[in-house]
Amino acid sequence: MAPGAAHPALLALLALLGALLPGPGGAETSVQPPKAIIPQGGSVRVTCSASCDHPSILGLETELTKKEVDHGENWKTFELTNVLSDSTPKCFSTCSENQSSTSVSIIVYRFPEHVKLAPLPTWQPVDEHFILTCQVSGGAPRAHLSVMLLRGEEVLERQPVAKGESTEVMFTVLAKREDHGVNFSCRTELDLRSEGLGLFQNSSAPRKLQTFVLPMTGLHLDTLRIVEVGTQWLVSCTLDGLFPASEAEVHMALGDQNLEPKIVNHGDSLLATAWVKSNEEEGTQHLVCQVTLGDQTRSRLENVTIYSFPAPYLTLSRPQVPEWTTVTVECKAHAGAVVTLEDAPARLGAPRAQLQLNASAEDNGRSFSCSAALEVAGQWLYKNRTLKLSVLYGPRLDERDCPGNWTWQEGSQQTLRCQARGNPLPKLKCSRKGDGASLPIGDLRPVKREVAGTYLCQANSSRGVTKREVVVNVIYHQNIPAIIVPVVAVITLGAVGAAAYIYYRKQKKQIYELQKAQKGWEKSGKKLNTPATPP
Ligand SMILES: *[C@@H]1O[C@H](CO)[C@@H](O)[C@H](O)[C@H]1NC(C)=O
Ligand SMILES: *[C@@H]1O[C@H](CO)[C@@H](O)[C@H](O)[C@H]1NC(C)=O
Ligand SMILES: *[C@@H]1O[C@H](CO)[C@@H](O)[C@H](O)[C@H]1NC(C)=O
Ligand SMILES: *[C@@H]1O[C@H](CO)[C@@H](O)[C@H](O)[C@H]1NC(C)=O
Ligand SMILES: *[C@@H]1O[C@H](CO)[C@@H](O)[C@H](O)[C@H]1NC(C)=O
Ligand SMILES: *[C@@H]1O[C@H](CO)[C@@H](O)[C@H](O)[C@H]1NC(C)=O
Ligand SMILES: *[C@@H]1O[C@H](CO)[C@@H](O)[C@H](O)[C@H]1NC(C)=O
Ligand SMILES: *[C@@H]1O[C@H](CO)[C@@H](O)[C@H](O)[C@H]1NC(C)=O
Repeated sequence: MAPGAAHPALLALLALLGALLPGPGGAETSVQPPKAIIPQGGSVRVTCSASCDHPSILGLETELTKKEVDHGENWKTFELTNVLSDSTPKCFSTCSENQSSTSVSIIVYRFPEHVKLAPLPTWQPVDEHFILTCQVSGGAPRAHLSVMLLRGEEVLERQPVAKGESTEVMFTVLAKREDHGVNFSCRTELDLRSEGLGLFQNSSAPRKLQTFVLPMTGLHLDTLRIVEVGTQWLVSCTLDGLFPASEAEVHMALGDQNLEPKIVNHGDSLLATAWVKSNEEEGTQHLVCQVTLGDQTRSRLENVTIYSFPAPYLTLSRPQVPEWTTVTVECKAHAGAVVTLEDAPARLGAPRAQLQLNASAEDNGRSFSCSAALEVAGQWLYKNRTLKLSVLYGPRLDERDCPGNWTWQEGSQQTLRCQARGNPLPKLKCSRKGDGASLPIGDLRPVKREVAGTYLCQANSSRGVTKREVVVNVIYHQNIPAIIVPVVAVITLGAVGAAAYIYYRKQKKQIYELQKAQKGWEKSGKKLNTPATPP
């Protein structure tokens, strides 16, 4: 029920009271209610009354559709319908000659038809102010209408809505990190509580805000600066302090070749890595890393020099030569590079170098190393190549390889060394003259007298045969039992011989002679006691 449509009986009573209380100066027109607030298109009843002591002429002057619904002496009740806008109908009365009038204020209220939050910036940089606009169309009375900006459910600010059918209300907001992903909305409030009505709210659809931080500096791009053709290498691009890091997009490219970076976020840090393979084209290429967040992009560029540098071309006239053959070693470099051939006469900055030699046994297994140097983007690069020469010689078995005279103490610890040299490696065989026993090459611990002897060593290879004699002497102490046996034998024989002689002479010579023989025997006994001396 519209608030203006009061009960007709009550209105009649009020009109009667108005008639009974004459206003100052006699005839007066009054209206009930003096003020009404009704919804747009609604209706309201208005009672006009006159304070006149006799019947008077009463009327209501309005453009609105009116209908007299009741009347009495000096009062009339009108119903006004389809009230679309604010209006002030006038009640008038004529009492005798005197005319008077009074107006009633009818205020129409309506809810806004549209409450909208204008589209937000897609991405809003953090710590920058931006404007949020609430669009309100309709809504009356405007004096009672306000609009609020909401962040989620929190009211950030309230502003009145100015007059006009469609009004925009602007709010300035400082973007924060915490605002990322938060819904913002507008809400109108039509506050008619002072009019005895309620508080009416209308809300807009929410819009999600996206805030971001993309630092101006600090983007790093790590890469090799000089790269050989065909190389694969890893490049990485890093940036700290960006928010929200997970929303960042990374583009990496080498020249016109797009890379496929692998992106890892850690807090506010971003790391993008990608494998790059240099194509076959030499020269400088741009490696670029671009980080895009929100509507901004940061990029970093590095120059990568791609070069081609094959190892030097090193040759030997023959890789395997017989002794005393002339060998030519030659080293050639790729265009632009310079070479240095080890042992060759130094010729600075030359693209080729040569060396000649008369191959000797000492050159067998000798390495020839050639180093090429190339300057790329201010850096010197080196590449080496090494070749080994094989010189056929031998077999060799000289004093150095196999000493021919060894003299050792029995029981001592020794090492017998005998090794044939040659390329190909000769086979060595040493056998003792007489019994053919093998020469015990290697560690002898202890040396035994049985190894003594003269050995004949023979070194064989496809290149010939060589021979050498090796004498092994073992010195040993002649101890007592060894010497006693022959001595005792001699003495025994001597004694038997002497006895036979004495017996024979006893018959011919005197006692004196016998005594002389006895003395000789004593002499032999003395000799028996003398200690043996080593030879
Ligand atoms: C009309 O009004 C005048 C003054 O306002 C007053 O003096 C006069 O008495 C009134 N006439 C009648 C008939 O009430
Ligand atoms: C924001 O609004 C959308 C659309 O109404 C809703 O789906 C989403 O859940 C809201 N997000 C938050 C954080 O309230
Ligand atoms: C505005 O809010 C009122 C109640 O508060 C509701 O009756 C009305 O339908 C709303 N208007 C719109 C356009 O949503
Ligand atoms: C890359 O090379 C260009 C010339 O091609 C030069 O202007 C630029 O300074 C170089 N950039 C870097 C980072 O060296
Ligand atoms: C190589 O050296 C050996 C020994 O000095 C010599 O006999 C020979 O003639 C040399 N050969 C050449 C080609 O110079
Ligand atoms: C190549 O030769 C240069 C100069 O002789 C040397 O400094 C470098 O260590 C060598 N590199 C290799 C891999 O042998
Ligand atoms: C072997 O060596 C010993 C002692 O070193 C020496 O007396 C002897 O003459 C040498 N014999 C030969 C054949 O050189
Ligand atoms: C060495 O060669 C000779 C003949 O060339 C041969 O009689 C001898 O058995 C060979 N010795 C070895 C150890 O091969």
